Amino acid sequence: MNRGERLRVFTGTAHQTLAQDICAHMGVPLGAASLARFPDGEINLKLEMDVRGADVFVIQPTCPNVHEHLFELLSFADCLRRASADRITAVIPYFGYARKDRKDEGRVPINAKLVANLLVTSGYNRVLTIDLHAAQIQGFFDIPVDHLYARPVMIERVRQLATKDVMIVSPDVGGVKLARAYAKDLGCDLAIIDKRRISGEQTVIEHVIGEVKNRDVVLVDDMVSTGGSIVDAARIVKEKGARKVFIVATHAVLCGNAVDKLNKAEVEKILFADTIPIADKKISRLEIVSVAQLLARAIERIHRSESVSKLFEPGAP
Ligand code: R5P
Repeated sequence: MNRGERLRVFTGTAHQTLAQDICAHMGVPLGAASLARFPDGEINLKLEMDVRGADVFVIQPTCPNVHEHLFELLSFADCLRRASADRITAVIPYFGYARKDRKDEGRVPINAKLVANLLVTSGYNRVLTIDLHAAQIQGFFDIPVDHLYARPVMIERVRQLATKDVMIVSPDVGGVKLARAYAKDLGCDLAIIDKRRISGEQTVIEHVIGEVKNRDVVLVDDMVSTGGSIVDAARIVKEKGARKVFIVATHAVLCGNAVDKLNKAEVEKILFADTIPIADKKISRLEIVSVAQLLARAIERIHRSESVSKLFEPGAP
């Protein structure tokens, strides 16, 4: 069977809006599947259409409920493989457990690797994702991984918002690579916050490396989880004399009281991508930047066996 004739896109319950938006950009319908729960909460999945010989994409971030949404993703692969799909790609806009990517102390698991193993074992042949917390997670898979960046989509809006003596600031040393890429694209300076993490919830800022006084500061991070890092960073750059402060992050995990913290922060605008559902969160000054079109173009290219890197070349569709 010719793959071109048999493209199928399915989604679980994590982020149906994003899946519908991606399908709209591709001009294809979302695949029919019933995804219910047994009385004890176990997942009860059934495909409502033929997938034999099809090139199938399953769209699902592993957030907001990482275990439930991960298991739905695994269940789809098992189901599709047994239903004779030709190729199965996991489209994971937000890859949870990515921060557990090494043994940073004794007697701890590497859960990012465990998740990669589970995805491959369940039947996935490829992975498509955006802004992995650590790019080297690609190496946890022995199947192809296409790793996209939200930056080109975000940057268009950043250019319109931050206009005067713009400075990109990374809220921690680990985020410098991402921040440097933004600074390079915008042709502006880069500063770094020297942050020390005390626990999952608590961080302490030691220094700001760089002069932020009278600058339009754009704080860039791959994710906002408890909001501690980015909100502390916003406070410190403001104390150091920043003129305006903007927050730009791809993945809005937003756990605990992150929304409260963001609402109290002295910032002009908060830009989050829609890799995780956030439309119903009451965040003031929020603008959602959609990655649906980017994902749609990437899916189409994978389907046609075309280069995905080309999407990031100047003038790309
Ligand atoms: C750190 O390595 C990440 O890039 C983020 O800065 C961090 O995970 C955000 O977490 P939180 O919002 O809980 O400070």
